[in-house]
Amino acid sequence: MNRIVVSSGGAGYGFLVDDQGRLHQAGFGPDIDDHMERLPDRIPPALYPLAYPAYDEEPTRAPALRVTHGDGTTTTRLKVEDVRVTGPQTDIVLVDPDRPLEVTLSFRADDHGVLRQWASVTNRQPGAITLHEVAAASPLLATPAPFLTHFGGGDWAAEWTTTTEALTPGTKVVESRGGVQPHLRSCPFFLLAPDGPPEELRGTVLAGALAWGGNTRFAFERTATPAVRVWCGHNPAASEYVLDPGATFVTPEQIWMWSTEGVGPLSRRFHRWVRAHAVRDGGALRPIVVNNWEATFFSFDTERILGLIDHTADLGAELFLLDDGWFGVSHPRDDDTTGLGDWEVDRAKLPDGLGPLIARSEERGVRFGLWVEPEMVNPDSTLYGEHPDWVVGQPGRRPRRWRNQLVLDVLQPDVAAFVVGVVGRVLAGNPGISYLKWDANRPLTDPGSPTLGADRQANYWVDEARATWRLMETVAERHPEQTLMLCASGGGRVDLGSLRWFHEVWLSDNTDPVDRVRMQWAASHFLPANVVGAHVTREGDRPVAFGCAVAMSARFGFDIDFAGLTDDELAICRRAVALYRDIRPLVQQGDLWRLVPPGERAALEYVSPDRRRAVVFGFQLTAGRTDPGPLRPGGLDPEQAYEVTTVDLTAGPAPVGNDVDRRRGSTLRDEGLEWPLNDPCTARLWVIDSV
Ligand code: DGJ
Repeated sequence: MNRIVVSSGGAGYGFLVDDQGRLHQAGFGPDIDDHMERLPDRIPPALYPLAYPAYDEEPTRAPALRVTHGDGTTTTRLKVEDVRVTGPQTDIVLVDPDRPLEVTLSFRADDHGVLRQWASVTNRQPGAITLHEVAAASPLLATPAPFLTHFGGGDWAAEWTTTTEALTPGTKVVESRGGVQPHLRSCPFFLLAPDGPPEELRGTVLAGALAWGGNTRFAFERTATPAVRVWCGHNPAASEYVLDPGATFVTPEQIWMWSTEGVGPLSRRFHRWVRAHAVRDGGALRPIVVNNWEATFFSFDTERILGLIDHTADLGAELFLLDDGWFGVSHPRDDDTTGLGDWEVDRAKLPDGLGPLIARSEERGVRFGLWVEPEMVNPDSTLYGEHPDWVVGQPGRRPRRWRNQLVLDVLQPDVAAFVVGVVGRVLAGNPGISYLKWDANRPLTDPGSPTLGADRQANYWVDEARATWRLMETVAERHPEQTLMLCASGGGRVDLGSLRWFHEVWLSDNTDPVDRVRMQWAASHFLPANVVGAHVTREGDRPVAFGCAVAMSARFGFDIDFAGLTDDELAICRRAVALYRDIRPLVQQGDLWRLVPPGERAALEYVSPDRRRAVVFGFQLTAGRTDPGPLRPGGLDPEQAYEVTTVDLTAGPAPVGNDVDRRRGSTLRDEGLEWPLNDPCTARLWVIDSV
């Protein structure tokens, strides 16, 4: 047991155990099996850093774990006690012999080269201990020129802002806060390229993702050695966790994937893994959705919604989603100040309830979906009047309002039952609903609950995130027939843990297609297109054809007032829907090739797994000033003859244009397609079929 290798597809960790039982990390990389085989037998483990240093074990380095023990001791010493291998999982059990504490580092090799990692801390002492920091993972990378790509740093409507930067000596921290919608600010994903800026088609790159719906923290400590220590886990900020005797704290999972062929192949493998393991029903095609939010906001009535349902059917779209504003009886939800928590249909707005809307949908062959925000309440509501003590808060302080609402304290059993019950009652009272959008429109403030003792209020951040997951799990299990979208003021909850109960996410409330090209591009590093809801709206006042093309490159839908569209624009929408139905298996289940990164223009492609079909999307974002050069599709079979059909959504009437061209895969790859666009906010699609 002196040597331990945990790897997936040859990539992962190599550990050495020294004479005193301490665990050292001898390597972390894409070829760890080879690396460990080449390591001389007699190499002293102590040459290498500790794999999971506890506080004070390596005094000059940030610890992976920091604990205050029951007797007040602040230091921890960990020694390997056991290594257990069970199928694809390896557990390395570390103990502190003097202060009974067990720390198990778990690794699980998944397919597609994914290695999942987490830590579990068990308190074996007679009294409670405090966990100040517990990393899910804390590897060290030997790297001469590390470049980090992270996503976020923005806020509402600026999710997935991409930054690639050289890591210089010091510590770069990328973290999220705010509990309920932390990923608005920072998405729990990163890329780390050890040898210079990451490239699409070559080079070594590491993808990391934390599967956690709460606050997250990645810290990259660059030393002059040259090395980077990466700290990954739930955000310890204000989250000291009091752990009772006998209890075990399990960190969120950190997901790792290495590539030695650049970011493109990495994303393709990552997507396959997400579809197979991380997202609910990842292999299933998603419907084309019409949502009323940006068409009507709160102001609608039965007629208006029936009109939108008719448009949904006329277009050939498949699901109508009724958004915020359908509920509230004595506190009608006419804006965001009232009614949240009162999940009865607002009869002033919809006198006959949802029944006629669902009936019309069924008549027209369209599925019906509904918006809920079950964890929240407006103070101006019947629910709050009856249960003012159900909200998150601290004794003697008025909890802060945000978007005029408060967060329900899901740690209280009655509240948890209410949240799950809301969904059950709404579905039981309105048969025919088959899709729910679960929203959450404010961050968590005033963290505290009467269910926690005075000495453990800081447990709230973690306990709340776990409790919310239990609610999501219960809802998903009790209503398996529902397709679920996860939304939190846009992309505030986009993580690989929450997704196991959801089919898709709402990426952002920023629906300007120019911004969406960049956002969807960023998200595409990790998320397959069938997970990413993208709707055509009026935001940015862009041409409808451009908006359609951008939305069609992900999970397609509309959020637009069709009554305000011209006949030509409606024809474009119809054409787009017909074409999307045809190319949907490519977009939603194919292999993504990112061809031209967003700048003046952008292009991407989806190729079927058997390489017999592909679709290329080209977007001109700003006026063309530079020579675009040929657009070279990737992933085609060089020997195969293909027919290329160029599609301009503005040039109807056929769903597919008439500019057909026959070429071999190798010719298409070498010569490329001619870039036909010059004007801002224009788009082309090329459908490539084998002949
Ligand atoms: C935020 C979501 O992102 C929007 O799509 C919409 O559902 C609103 N909430 C409704 O309040």
